[in-house]
Amino acid sequence: MGMLILGIETSCDETAAALVKDGQYVRSNVIASSCELFKHTGGVVPEAAARQQVELMLPVLHTCLESANTSTQDIDAIAVTRGPGLLGSLIVGTTTARVLASLWEKPLVGIHHTLGHLSSPWLTDADDDRPDIAFPVLTLSASGGHTELWLRHAHTNNMLLGRTRDDAAGEAFDKGASLLGLPYPGGPSIARAAEHGDTHAFDFPLPLADDDTLDFSFSGLKTALRYTLRDLESRGTDRATRQADLAASYQEALCAHLVDRVQHALQQHTHVHELHIVGGVSANARLRTLLQEQCDIPLRTPPSLAYCTDNAAMIAAAGAFLLRERGSKALAPFETNASLPADALCASER
Ligand code: KG4
Ligand code: ZN
Repeated sequence: MGMLILGIETSCDETAAALVKDGQYVRSNVIASSCELFKHTGGVVPEAAARQQVELMLPVLHTCLESANTSTQDIDAIAVTRGPGLLGSLIVGTTTARVLASLWEKPLVGIHHTLGHLSSPWLTDADDDRPDIAFPVLTLSASGGHTELWLRHAHTNNMLLGRTRDDAAGEAFDKGASLLGLPYPGGPSIARAAEHGDTHAFDFPLPLADDDTLDFSFSGLKTALRYTLRDLESRGTDRATRQADLAASYQEALCAHLVDRVQHALQQHTHVHELHIVGGVSANARLRTLLQEQCDIPLRTPPSLAYCTDNAAMIAAAGAFLLRERGSKALAPFETNASLPADALCASER
């Protein structure tokens, strides 16, 4: 009999709950996104997100338990995202988890959102398909809130190799989409618009080309896109006629920077067994293709797009791994922290 964990995730605009056995087998995964609400705002409005989460949290939990045909007695522990993210949103999830843990008398584990993403490649929807992953692993975690490279020797032994100095990769997709007049979230809408575009139509610089750290920088690409659009306008070109080419070239430039940093990391850390990409940006098909073509190492992604973007199954998985590797230390009381730092990835006391 394995351990069944209820995961709760509300760090941004989603309200999510999941039941996961042994950190891998997903029994149910429910997510209500408030994405529609923000389609025309160019991004999430924090207070509006939190208000919706208050309304959605209990119905989502109810559906999650019902669809797994599970009663509360079967749950061994609760895991909840404690940061980083939007404070109001995080408070909805952590308060719900604290109340349920007390009411049902269950152990409660606070999870760093990024540790959730790092755990997502272990998830599976099939009982007989056990992902066999051998550390050390190099993980590129790229989402709307962060872009980081991690060298992982165990679930609780992680070294941060590099991170973005300005915008996150997902943010660069979102801001680029807004400049191009495409809807939020920008990643999927740029990918769609790029499908019939020419990746070489416009030239964008490779960020940090002569830099020997493993950091990222995306704000220059966003500025370059703004200048490109200004130049087109000053020449009287209707940018709508070039939208596919603009989206394809911009997406290519963002992906090229991500691939370049991964290649540098692999040159420095030749002993890693696998490359993982996680977080919302790992859903990007062009990024996957380029990594496969240009990096000579097995590439693993979360098993479906639903586990790339924010979800509660990855939080439940991280809870199981923390309990497995840290025992009762994983149950230390925690604060809900909107700006939880990367170095608190596995710490629960901060
Ligand atoms: O991990 P996630 O759901 O939430 C955060 O923790 O931020 O990531 C959301 C981000 C958004 O910026 C979105 O534009 C991006 O992931 N994203 C994508 C794709 N799907 C989502 N970026 C590129 N290509 C995609 N297909
Ligand atoms: Zn995320």
